[in-house]
Amino acid sequence: MSWTSPEGKVVVVTGASSGIGEATARRLVRVGATVVAVARRDDRLTALADELSSERGRLVPHAADVTDTAAVDALAARVRDEFGACHALINNAGVGGGAFVGRDDLDDALHTLDVNLLGTVRCLAAFADLLEASAPARVVNVASVAGKLGIGPAGYAASKFGVVGLSEALSLSWASRDITVCQLNPGFIVTEGFPQAHLTSGPMARLVGEPDDVAARIVEVLRTGVPERTVPSWYRSFVALRHLAPPVYRAVASRIDRAGGDRSE
Ligand SMILES: NC(=O)c1ccc[n+]([C@@H]2O[C@H](COP(=O)([O-])OP(=O)(O)OC[C@H]3O[C@@H](n4cnc5c(N)ncnc54)[C@H](OP(=O)(O)O)[C@@H]3O)[C@@H](O)[C@H]2O)c1
Repeated sequence: MSWTSPEGKVVVVTGASSGIGEATARRLVRVGATVVAVARRDDRLTALADELSSERGRLVPHAADVTDTAAVDALAARVRDEFGACHALINNAGVGGGAFVGRDDLDDALHTLDVNLLGTVRCLAAFADLLEASAPARVVNVASVAGKLGIGPAGYAASKFGVVGLSEALSLSWASRDITVCQLNPGFIVTEGFPQAHLTSGPMARLVGEPDDVAARIVEVLRTGVPERTVPSWYRSFVALRHLAPPVYRAVASRIDRAGGDRSE
């Protein structure tokens, strides 16, 4: 089955109860995919399934916590047994985490790494064989510009640098299995978990985007299979600046970092 359209495909989306994951699930169901929507808040997923029940595709709610290996394995087993395939896995579940100052922040940093990085690893491990059996298959790992620039809460940046490295390595090693792996790096997007309150009212408000901006790019990546995408794309100029002119980059980055204030809110 080629990937020119998501219609008829089985797509697993983690973190589908709000924000980017919810917007992605909506888009995919509208174009005829079967979306297995994963998150802890089952009521949200069930309401979304009801709302989308008259669309071309179908949303199947599945409550699971990506920090629970047995729950992630059970999710993959359900998808295999019920649908017989997984044509795409979108690892999107994530939390922001707070500032990393010292010992009081350890649990928060470990949880952030557990959800964002290890949750992605758990899902990849659980679905690898089914993805290969369903090839050509796609993986989209929702990382972040913070996984390229090391800006904002340190535990969060560490988790996203991890997702970027994982994605880059797997985009090479899983290519021979006909599984394309993409790192999708959003900039500032207003969502429940990332309200961007420090930016939306100030001069940097124009830097802030909507969840559906990212969802549209995720669907595009499913069609094209490109290994990397930044949303919006102009954030890549900051990444280039970091490598080409580090002192200039640090001056700009420290201004953005100071504007962040207390990110534990
Ligand atoms: N918004 C931004 O500015 C931005 C920028 C770059 C990257 N990102 C990334 O985009 C992804 C989506 O974030 P968002 O902005 O859409 O935030 P969001 O609206 O808060 O969505 C986060 C999703 O992750 C789920 N989730 C959190 N912990 C989970 C767990 N332990 N197990 C399963 N699901 C879990 C949440 O569902 P439940 O609470 O129901 O479990 C929710 O559906 C994240 O990976 C985030 O790091 C966001």
